[in-house]
Amino acid sequence: MDLGLKDKVVLVTAGSRGLGRAVATEYAREGAKVMLASRNEQELAKTAREIAAETGSQVEFVAADLSKRDAVDAVYAKVGERFGRLDVLVTNAGGPPAGTFDNFEDDVWEQTFQANLLNVVRLVRGALPYFRQVGGGRIVNITSTSIKQPIEGLILSNTFRAGINALAKSLSVELAPEGILVNTVAPGRIATDRITELDGLRAAATGLTQDDVRVGNERQIPIGRYGTPDEFARTAVFLGSYANTYVTGQAVLIDGGMVRAL
Ligand SMILES: NC(=O)c1ccc[n+]([C@@H]2O[C@H](COP(=O)([O-])OP(=O)(O)OC[C@H]3O[C@@H](n4cnc5c(N)ncnc54)[C@H](OP(=O)(O)O)[C@@H]3O)[C@@H](O)[C@H]2O)c1
Repeated sequence: MDLGLKDKVVLVTAGSRGLGRAVATEYAREGAKVMLASRNEQELAKTAREIAAETGSQVEFVAADLSKRDAVDAVYAKVGERFGRLDVLVTNAGGPPAGTFDNFEDDVWEQTFQANLLNVVRLVRGALPYFRQVGGGRIVNITSTSIKQPIEGLILSNTFRAGINALAKSLSVELAPEGILVNTVAPGRIATDRITELDGLRAAATGLTQDDVRVGNERQIPIGRYGTPDEFARTAVFLGSYANTYVTGQAVLIDGGMVRAL
């Protein structure tokens, strides 16, 4: 299947590590040109170099804290300067702090709103003029299986991911007439630094070893193991490709069957 991505331009936020990096790599393998954005410039430069070396595609980067409006503007200035067009937006961000209701005052709620929901609004706003210039586009939002089944001890994530999902569904209706398809991908337990961190927190809280925590989690997954970032990326990239011409407004769980809800 031809994904129709050759020479398309893709912006992947939070793209230096983990899921964002894997998605960016998969786009580059398909011949797309990629812009990565996250905070640590050295890490971005290294990731961009490695993806370009593996795939032969053009990979650019811009250091930006995407919880800030100015930083989102700077990302689009760089997209304009380097590529002058945009065909696909992948919204991704660092995971919010773990905790329960009693752990957080307004300041943390507000910061998480900026970093994990308003960032998506701002990123979409910045992408639309580019999409309208070329007469279409693709948006893929990376969220979590918590959009279907809230996860214990992650109240901030549970709240704001649901907001992204509702935003994406609304956008899919508003933007379909313009040829812009909007979908959400929801990772369950894909082996990245974030999952190592969450397993570590669980181990510290329960007195179990980190391996025990992982084995316990794997028992909840019908496929019997954590997913790999590449497995996650293949589904995300299909939805955000030009082979996808009829799927929009959907949230696809990439979780090895972990969530039991219909
Ligand atoms: N892995 C999973 O199975 C899983 C499951 C459910 C949900 N998720 C969610 O999916 C997202 C990606 O997860 P991951 O596992 O890939 O995490 P990760 O390996 O920890 O990578 C996080 C990425 O986000 C970037 N980042 C963090 N804060 C940022 C900010 N303010 N502005 C710009 N970039 C920022 C990081 O780079 P810098 O630190 O340099 O900025 C890094 O590139 C997270 O929101 C996570 O909670 C993941």
